[in-house]
Amino acid sequence: MDSRTTSFNILIFPWLAHAINLPSIKNFIDKNMLENSIELVEIHLKPSQELPPHYHTTKNLPSHLNFTLIKAFQTADSSFSNIISNLKPDSLIYDVFQPWPAKQALSQGIPAVHFVPFVAATFSVLHYHYKFKDPSFPFLPLCLPDQDMKTNDRLKKFLSAHVFYGDKDSFLMNHKLSSDIILLKTSEGFEGKYVEYYSNVSHKKVVPVGPLVKQENTSEEGDPEVLKWLSMKDQLSTVYGSEYFLNKEENEVIAKGLEISEVNFIWVIRFPMGEKITLKKALPQGFLEVFVKL
Ligand SMILES: *[C@@H]1O[C@H](CO)[C@@H](O)[C@H](O)[C@H]1NC(C)=O
Ligand SMILES: *[C@@H]1O[C@H](CO)[C@@H](O)[C@H](O)[C@H]1NC(C)=O
Ligand SMILES: *[C@@H]1O[C@H](CO)[C@@H](O)[C@H](O)[C@H]1NC(C)=O
Repeated sequence: MDSRTTSFNILIFPWLAHAINLPSIKNFIDKNMLENSIELVEIHLKPSQELPPHYHTTKNLPSHLNFTLIKAFQTADSSFSNIISNLKPDSLIYDVFQPWPAKQALSQGIPAVHFVPFVAATFSVLHYHYKFKDPSFPFLPLCLPDQDMKTNDRLKKFLSAHVFYGDKDSFLMNHKLSSDIILLKTSEGFEGKYVEYYSNVSHKKVVPVGPLVKQENTSEEGDPEVLKWLSMKDQLSTVYGSEYFLNKEENEVIAKGLEISEVNFIWVIRFPMGEKITLKKALPQGFLEVFVKL
């Protein structure tokens, strides 16, 4: 900790997604000899009958418990308050569903920067095109099916009631709290025009940080069959996804999109723990090209 007096210390508080389980991160840190620059800090949610500790992450979480996990996440509020007071970082990076870490940091004079794990197009279309009907929205509207709009409205209502407490533009609160800049999980090359629009409407500098894919040493890790297939493709010609559990309809839409766009792709399809559906049943018939089982 001696380095703390001379270096710049950033506290990063991620949402409870796949990658945040400490053992998996610790393994990565050890392997890459980063233990002198990264310190892991534990934070615990209150366990409940509905949500035992092994469900305190989106990994393997049955999808009907998604709101329950977001609610449980809010119970980390007071533990985080102690963490930030003890560590006194120079800056905080905070993720989705958590306005309180930013507020706690700001109240102690620590700048807080929002990391948005979505692409700029999602935010621009959902909020500024559909909701605020921004007359200067400069792009062709993407057509979202009614079902998706309903799902989005349900999520927004839930977040307003349990996370942002009555703020009707709840998604915007995290943006407003962010000090000067917002980090976005995207790239200029992928959707530069939306990044610019996002920056315009949020009045913040938007910094695309790339897709945050863990860099593997390909000479020693990875499925040999997939690596061989990849090595035969041109550079930057292959699409890769996804982390989220999709339902059957969503899988079909993605499959159709991939088919129409005629790109090379590797698709990691995940199912919640205990899900009985087979891969064959989850996808349109005859679709499968390459399957990487994680
Ligand atoms: C999330 O949980 C809510 C409440 O249980 C449920 O209505 C919704 O369908 C769930 N979302 C997904 C994607 O499963
Ligand atoms: C962003 O704002 C600038 C300055 O007003 C404007 O020239 C530009 O067209 C805007 N970009 C988008 C994508 O809306
Ligand atoms: C990757 O692994 C190989 C084999 O173990 C090793 O020789 C090489 O130095 C590693 N490369 C990196 C960038 O770590």
